[in-house]
Amino acid sequence: MDHGEVWRIWNLHANAWTKLARAGYDVYRDYLNTPAFFALLPDVGGLSGLHIGCGEGHNTRLLAKRGARVTAVDIAEAFIVHSREAETQEPLGIDYRVASAVELPYADATFDFATGFMSFMDIPEIARVLAEAHRVLKPGGFLQFSIAHPCFDTPHRRNLRDANGLTYAIEIGDYFRPLEGAISEWLFSAAPSHVKHGLPQFKTPRFNRTVSQWLNLLIDTGLMLERVEEPRPSDATVLACPGVQDAQVVAYFLHLRVRKPK
Ligand SMILES: C[S@@+](CC[C@H](N)C(=O)[O-])C[C@H]1O[C@@H](n2cnc3c(N)ncnc32)[C@H](O)[C@@H]1O
Repeated sequence: MDHGEVWRIWNLHANAWTKLARAGYDVYRDYLNTPAFFALLPDVGGLSGLHIGCGEGHNTRLLAKRGARVTAVDIAEAFIVHSREAETQEPLGIDYRVASAVELPYADATFDFATGFMSFMDIPEIARVLAEAHRVLKPGGFLQFSIAHPCFDTPHRRNLRDANGLTYAIEIGDYFRPLEGAISEWLFSAAPSHVKHGLPQFKTPRFNRTVSQWLNLLIDTGLMLERVEEPRPSDATVLACPGVQDAQVVAYFLHLRVRKPK
């Protein structure tokens, strides 16, 4: 499977994804991943940034609200339609384009920083994505991205729950088995069944890599590791959103910041 095939799948799901995410059902994003990502992000006020794999633009808008001049790309034009609609309703100066992370339509050394929120593990040609991010960054610029945690979002995964339905452990396995586009079928677990009723399941392709593969890809691209985080929801967050309780047991997500040398 290449990025062209991945495009077809994401484009197909973009409308339902946007509807559910904007209704507040992407709870791991809203309660955990996005706050942790922005806590890790350096000050981007006045900087020019490229958001790679922007989806419906939720996190793109938050980047712009931090004072960055933001350009954003996604391979799925249906997502870009929703992003541009939001930009029309609330103009933030964001320039959205349909483009693949594998072939970024920008000159070398254009941006001060680049971001990817939960999109890089969805792209088969990840070495090319990192090379492209490196190319369009100015010397000294940084790339920050989040991915499903390679150690805990493994091909085999099962939540083990106690009598109260609380997760106390995650059974994991097949860490080393490459999936290369195996399809996961799912919908946002926080969406109630009457909302999910009639919606086809997302069928998203998975391209898992081990921790050493990710780190060696970054090293081989010439990007210097600067910061690593594994977000964990606080007890207060779990009280506000019980659906993310299992993310207290293991790290579901991995956030990395790397820098292009000067
Ligand atoms: C899990 S969604 C995340 C969307 C968004 N970043 C968010 O956090 O809500 C993954 C996104 O990556 C995009 N994507 C997949 N392959 C891509 C590629 N080669 N180039 C650009 N975007 C891509 C998909 O279309 C989708 O919008």
